[in-house]
Amino acid sequence: MKIGGMMINGELQLARPLRWGMVGGGRTGQVGYKHRTGALRDGTYHLVCGAFDVDAARGRDFGMRVGVAEERCYDSYQALIAAETARADGVEVVSVATPNFTHYEITKALLSAGIHVICEKPLFFSVAECDEIAALAREKGLIVGVTYGYTGHPMVAQMAAMVAKGMLGEIRIVDMQYTHGFNAGDDTGASEAQQWRVDPARSGGTFVLGDIGTHLQYLSEIVLPHLKIEKLLCDRTAFIPSRAPLEDHATVLMHYDNGARARLWVSSVDAGQMDAQRYRFVGAKASVEWHAARPDELLYEVQGEPSRILHHGMPYLEEEGHEYDRMGALHTEGLGDSWANIYLWIAQAIAGNPPARYPDMAAGTSGVRWLENCIRSAEAGGAWVDYA
Ligand SMILES: NC(=O)c1ccc[n+]([C@@H]2O[C@H](COP(=O)([O-])OP(=O)(O)OC[C@H]3O[C@@H](n4cnc5c(N)ncnc54)[C@H](O)[C@@H]3O)[C@@H](O)[C@H]2O)c1
Repeated sequence: MKIGGMMINGELQLARPLRWGMVGGGRTGQVGYKHRTGALRDGTYHLVCGAFDVDAARGRDFGMRVGVAEERCYDSYQALIAAETARADGVEVVSVATPNFTHYEITKALLSAGIHVICEKPLFFSVAECDEIAALAREKGLIVGVTYGYTGHPMVAQMAAMVAKGMLGEIRIVDMQYTHGFNAGDDTGASEAQQWRVDPARSGGTFVLGDIGTHLQYLSEIVLPHLKIEKLLCDRTAFIPSRAPLEDHATVLMHYDNGARARLWVSSVDAGQMDAQRYRFVGAKASVEWHAARPDELLYEVQGEPSRILHHGMPYLEEEGHEYDRMGALHTEGLGDSWANIYLWIAQAIAGNPPARYPDMAAGTSGVRWLENCIRSAEAGGAWVDYA
């Protein structure tokens, strides 16, 4: 007998693998390997080309070492598009794993050339840009997926199912935190990846809100799809002054349309903290709490009963909590598994068979909208603003 769900076992889920490429995500990129971990897991994607790096020679060397033919390691995304669209077996979908300020122009160019896109978050700098790209994708009949990497974990689907089935009762309180201490010191100039993150021209209007806060925002949207944010207050600051006007720490309060209240803490100066990404959804009857650092476990507390820890892959979970379980209950189900699910869902959408939910263009837009509202509130001195 199988232990728990293990619904995914590596069998090809599409008629054939997709021809896949990457822009960015090369040897020096922090997030590139997570993309490859997700995309290459089930044979759903074949990595056929890339413009992996701003340093073309380094990008070519890297591409060849991850199995891409030399002539398909390009000096730039423009060269990639020109050459791949001229081939009968050209790339079909490209992932954009570059700094924030490049997402819009690269996504627009790829879609214009008829290529599906999987883009990093925060998707673009403004909702206006998102709306323009959404219209372009619709016109071209193409998919834009967004890599909210944690949201493919089966325990996220479990939480969403428990809320949808009324197991918590009416939602009253949402408490979320994504903090770490890796920027507690003044690391200005430390690395290129940190330099662009605190430069408004390259990062956008936020640092930690966009860098890590959008993960909280999208995951809570999955668990609470029936709730809409009505009002929001964002208080942000830069404890390292050179990061201003961007923030290395923020607190966001939110009111939902059912009267529920949310509190969200985002910080990269939480000294000593390695990785605190935590969600607590409190209903009238019960609560669930999930920590990304212990993703296999879901704390389920019913008022007046002993606390329970639900474990991934176990038969007592809701059906939705099993659907994309990969490892089974005896083994850890982690971030790489979650990314593999996200890449699988996006592939299914590209193949014309989208799952009920996956991080799509609307999800990316929703994140950018949330950031715009946070900035508006913060710039008004941390005032309550109606969610727009
Ligand atoms: N989804 C997640 O969990 C997650 C995690 C980390 C980063 N991110 C996002 O991923 C993106 C990249 O972040 P990072 O931390 O990997 O950044 P990084 O600075 O570490 O790496 C960026 C890479 O892009 C390359 N690059 C830059 N411009 C390019 C261009 N025009 N053409 C080709 N390559 C180019 C660089 O050479 C570098 O290798 C950001 O948008 C960030 O917010 C997401």
